[in-house]
Amino acid sequence: MRKFLFVGIVFAALLHFMLHIFVQKKTISTVTTDSIKEYTSVVLQGKVSLLLNMSEIDPFLCDDYRKQSAILGSNKVDLPYGTRKGERYFDVALKKLPKCDFPDDIRNISCKKCVVVGNGGVLRNSTLGKKIDSYDVIIRMNDGPVLGYEDDVGQKTTFRLCYPESIFSDSLHYDPNTTVVLMMFKPHDVKWLSELLLHRVVSTYGFWRKPAMKLIYQPHQLRVLNPFILKQVSQNLLNFPTNFPKTEKPKHPTTGIIAITLALHICNEVHIAGFKYNLTSLNSSLHYYGNDTMSVMAQNEYHNISAEQMFLRDLIEHKTVTNLT
Ligand SMILES: *[C@@H]1O[C@H](CO)[C@@H](O)[C@H](O)[C@H]1NC(C)=O
Ligand SMILES: *[C@@H]1O[C@H](CO)[C@@H](O)[C@H](O)[C@H]1NC(C)=O
Ligand SMILES: *[C@@H]1O[C@H](CO)[C@@H](O)[C@H](O)[C@H]1NC(C)=O
Ligand SMILES: *[C@@H]1O[C@H](CO)[C@@H](O)[C@H](O)[C@H]1NC(C)=O
Ligand SMILES: *[C@@H]1O[C@H](CO)[C@@H](O)[C@H](O)[C@H]1NC(C)=O
Ligand SMILES: *[C@@H]1O[C@H](CO)[C@@H](O)[C@H](O)[C@H]1NC(C)=O
Ligand SMILES: *[C@@H]1O[C@H](CO)[C@@H](O)[C@H](O)[C@H]1NC(C)=O
Ligand SMILES: *[C@@H]1O[C@H](CO)[C@@H](O)[C@H](O)[C@H]1NC(C)=O
Repeated sequence: MRKFLFVGIVFAALLHFMLHIFVQKKTISTVTTDSIKEYTSVVLQGKVSLLLNMSEIDPFLCDDYRKQSAILGSNKVDLPYGTRKGERYFDVALKKLPKCDFPDDIRNISCKKCVVVGNGGVLRNSTLGKKIDSYDVIIRMNDGPVLGYEDDVGQKTTFRLCYPESIFSDSLHYDPNTTVVLMMFKPHDVKWLSELLLHRVVSTYGFWRKPAMKLIYQPHQLRVLNPFILKQVSQNLLNFPTNFPKTEKPKHPTTGIIAITLALHICNEVHIAGFKYNLTSLNSSLHYYGNDTMSVMAQNEYHNISAEQMFLRDLIEHKTVTNLT
């Protein structure tokens, strides 16, 4: 189940990233292009054009998503990397979302310093809270709480990437200043969103864990990540195969990697915290909250953590991102 959660997070992050790009293209395009070029020239040869192409893509789906879907070919691919099989619910849900661009307050910051806060146990007792809160844009994922962990992880959240099984449903966690980026992995996820926005009873059929039964956020705080971004991260940045043998679970990127990719596109400077997984230390805390241990992640068949860690190591070694933990 956690596997799915992670996947969801990654997707959400990526969506965010696209949205930002789209809305802020005018102010950030030079920086984005430069940093991508530098990054790709040393780390990801041949992927320059991909990332540049991505900066032309709307990160969040709008109610006219079918047009872009057709241009990108997303309409010919099933969820989660396309929109096919979700259309009838997307049509309903996206009409109910009043916004599909970047929040005003961050759109206007010309030189954005961003931090992507992972949920890793390395943040326990880190006392990084004040530092994290000092960034212009703070990206968090899934149900990684702020409440009760402010000293270590801060209290502000600009974007939160999540999916139906990982979105907060307890209004204790409500933050009016957060924009939630939803990653849709299956038709049921889109159905779930449309039911919530129509104030209908939510069907819990088809979920790997009970999804949120109510929305604590206002519709203007919600965005839907463009599935094309997930496809790019999975197939072009992480080089995951598109087909897996029947005996193997298909690999999806974690929310963390999606969030970092998003940040690289929208920010002038990207720092990360809470992204260390030591898979050989199975007894260590998986998250900065709760009691799960690393063994949960080590058993995760839906992610390829080692491939992601190599990608991340490259980004850090080439100073494309700075690691705070
Ligand atoms: C980027 O876009 C160009 C033109 O639209 C296309 O020829 C090229 O294949 C794309 N590159 C990638 C990596 O998708
Ligand atoms: C952002 O900038 C636009 C135009 O540059 C301006 O109209 C708008 O009021 C600004 N918004 C904020 C929140 O500063
Ligand atoms: C964090 O600090 C508390 C109190 O100082 C201590 O009891 C706990 O063991 C520490 N946790 C870690 C993971 O270091
Ligand atoms: C939301 O932002 C406003 C304006 O910056 C601020 O006054 C308020 O305290 C913030 N609310 C929360 C819950 O962080
Ligand atoms: C991971 O954990 C193992 C066992 O606790 C330890 O020996 C190793 O040094 C750790 N690796 C890193 C990179 O922290
Ligand atoms: C992990 O925890 C279990 C039970 O708490 C303990 O038996 C085991 O020795 C621990 N292993 C390591 C490597 O610390
Ligand atoms: C974690 O374990 C502690 C001690 O066993 C327990 O008090 C606490 O309720 C657990 N937390 C969660 C989220 O399960
Ligand atoms: C994970 O990715 C690495 C590097 O791309 C690859 O060598 C490995 O076979 C992958 N593992 C799985 C289980 O897919």
